[in-house]
Amino acid sequence: MLIHGRPSRTIWPTASGAVEIIDQTCLPHAVKIVRLETLDDTVAAIADMRVRGAPLIGVTAAWGLALAMRADASDAGLALAARRLKASRPTAVNLAWAVDRVESALTITPAADREAVARGGAVAIAEADVAACRRIGEHGADLIEVIARAGGDRPVNLLTHCNAGWLATVDWGTALAPVYVAQARGVDVHVWVDETRPRNQGAALTAFELGQQGVAHTIIADNAGGHLMQHGRVDLVIVGADRITRTGDAANKIGTYLKALAAADNGVPFHVAAPASTVDWRLTDGVAQIPIEERGAEEVTHMTGALADGSLARVQVSAPGSPAANFAFDVTPARLITSLITERGVCPASEAGLSALFPENAAPY
Ligand code: MRU
Repeated sequence: MLIHGRPSRTIWPTASGAVEIIDQTCLPHAVKIVRLETLDDTVAAIADMRVRGAPLIGVTAAWGLALAMRADASDAGLALAARRLKASRPTAVNLAWAVDRVESALTITPAADREAVARGGAVAIAEADVAACRRIGEHGADLIEVIARAGGDRPVNLLTHCNAGWLATVDWGTALAPVYVAQARGVDVHVWVDETRPRNQGAALTAFELGQQGVAHTIIADNAGGHLMQHGRVDLVIVGADRITRTGDAANKIGTYLKALAAADNGVPFHVAAPASTVDWRLTDGVAQIPIEERGAEEVTHMTGALADGSLARVQVSAPGSPAANFAFDVTPARLITSLITERGVCPASEAGLSALFPENAAPY
């Protein structure tokens, strides 16, 4: 998608064997490219959220294994790299999925060839993610078009939470891919963008990428969604996911569950868009089984933003000394989800729905 009118991806390899990323902690104020040379660089970039979003951290971790193999391609080096990458963020299953895929290819590869095989694996996972997101966009845009046709001349009002756009993937995004495809089809779409405290991925990242793409949008405080739904100002909600159980429960950025409750109370369709790599086929109960990342309290007590002169400043917004807790994700039960939008189509959020689209995963674990 576009940054200042030029097509970009979120991550790409360099000729020298390193990897470059857009540092998302600097957006929307600066587009800063950061080079990852080592496993340490990669683990830190994921943990500090210079890259974030479930599909993107999976792809980054795959590249991290390739960088690790440059330094130590032994069995012990491979096992350590895989363990460190998987531990860098716990909720998004795409990360472990990508590491497992590349690691299993490397275990049957001689040490001398491991870097090259890991690079090939990372490229394949990245390209598959782009293709999956594009197809999610096509299927989700069909849903948006149905609403547009019923609504006459007025724009379709879509609400989203956090950033599940192209910045959270390699390209296109999950929840926002349908918006971009609908826009390309000439559908008039307006997006309500939840600011998404505490890290403000909505206000900073979703608003940035929608603006760069020329999509009409309005940032709202996280708590405004229920009010807008009560007044008929939201036609549908589409969010992304970090992990979906085989029964259709979906973990996503903290606050997603409250939006689903408000949507159910107001009869607003609530869709979750995600590729198959986000489904954890081993799990049947999202609330009980999905690990929820807890991050540092300072993300709640402090905020970073730009001053009038463009410099960045970090300020405290809480009462000094008050403790804070920072749960990064919550789980929306399948019963509150109208449908899952996947690369293979749209299905009910249920074991039957997912199994029908992905029969190769239907066997019980
Ligand atoms: O903490 P983040 O910014 O990595 O959380 C991201 C989200 O919750 C996204 O909605 C999710 O990863 C889906 S990304 C396509």
